[in-house]
Amino acid sequence: MSDKGSVLVTGGAGFVGSHTTVELIQAGYSVVVIDSLINSRKESIARAEEITGTKIPAYYFDILEKEKLQQVFEKHRINSVIHFASLKAVGVSVHTPLIYYKNNLGITINLLEVMRENGVKKFIFSSSATVYGDPHYLPFDEKHPVGNCTNPYGKSKFFNEEILRDFSLANPDWKFILLRYFNPVGAHKSGRLGEDPMGIPNNLTPYIAQVAVGRLPYVRVLGNDYDTRDGTGVRDYLHVVDLAVGHIAALEKVEKMNGCMAINLGTGKNHSVLEMVAAFEKACGKKIPYKLEARRDGDLPTFYANPSLAESELGWKAIRGVDDMCADMWKFQQMNPNGYAEN
Ligand code: NAD
Ligand code: WQD
Repeated sequence: MSDKGSVLVTGGAGFVGSHTTVELIQAGYSVVVIDSLINSRKESIARAEEITGTKIPAYYFDILEKEKLQQVFEKHRINSVIHFASLKAVGVSVHTPLIYYKNNLGITINLLEVMRENGVKKFIFSSSATVYGDPHYLPFDEKHPVGNCTNPYGKSKFFNEEILRDFSLANPDWKFILLRYFNPVGAHKSGRLGEDPMGIPNNLTPYIAQVAVGRLPYVRVLGNDYDTRDGTGVRDYLHVVDLAVGHIAALEKVEKMNGCMAINLGTGKNHSVLEMVAAFEKACGKKIPYKLEARRDGDLPTFYANPSLAESELGWKAIRGVDDMCADMWKFQQMNPNGYAEN
């Protein structure tokens, strides 16, 4: 679609952004990436170029630097923006709220201002199921109240949604889709692209993968006294490639709408911690050692998506199951025991 200009992918060197960049290019889109590399490496863009056989224009700077952002819009004909860039460590956000609000809100405001100066009016935002807070009911649908978030990261997602909803009301010819991700996991089937968190993983599945490959001694099962089928936390795990493909469906939708709509991207299925450990054991053919530990502050027992709006509005449905997620994650971890570091 290069005659239609490029899709600007902010945070495109990150886990979800890099997988989405691959799917966009393979669907015929031209992509431009901006990433500060605060939580990623250039290697993921190199891998995306290798997989797609395409050179990807990538600019490595902090989007708080508005002048540099404007220069990218001057150099490329940007048709739409997919905004993945964000800090996303829940625990860290509790101790550094100003860093999280300045970054996660500041870059969105910079983007909107530069888009407005350049006449770009299509915006797809990486939101999160975390905006729903404590469930009033499950599964979460898009009518569920939002904003009851308990940490600065989650609040930054909610505040961003509010900024975009308010901006949309003031600019009715703009088009916004807020994609509320559940729990993205997995890797590209090639084993060349995957999740490579900095330091000790906060999230369950990269932690399991690092135990399986011997980088960590055992999985910490954070709480087994929840009111769930086996006492451990239950989530809606979604293959990162299904999630990536959901962005292509959103890009197609955003061409045909006005206003601002929030859509869940989840499977509608759910798995417990122990079920994910078992699924990973099946994928890697090894026992995964684990220890039962205390609950993690702020964790909810259970949440999962009602994905019906994504199906009706985007024509999107997740097609990969937990076995695919674990098999692809294991392939990536085996091929890259230390992530992208060894390059
Ligand atoms: P990630 O950390 O891998 O990717 C985010 C990218 O944004 C990183 O590469 C980072 O370097 C970049 N970035 C951060 N601040 C920046 C700035 N000021 N300027 C330029 N680049 C900047 O995270 P991810 O898992 O790929 O998540 C992508 C998006 O999806 C994020 O907005 C995240 O909040 C959201 N999300 C993630 C999950 C999840 O579990 N992974 C779930 C729900 C929502
Ligand atoms: C999943 C389950 C834990 C780690 C977080 C953010 C959310 C979003 C996705 C950005 C829970 C348990 C975890 C471990 C464990 N990120 N667990 N041992 O907490 O659902 O969501 O990531 O938007 O905003 O809150 O994901 O993978 O951390 O936890 O037992 O070492 O695994 O208690 O039940 P979570 P998670």
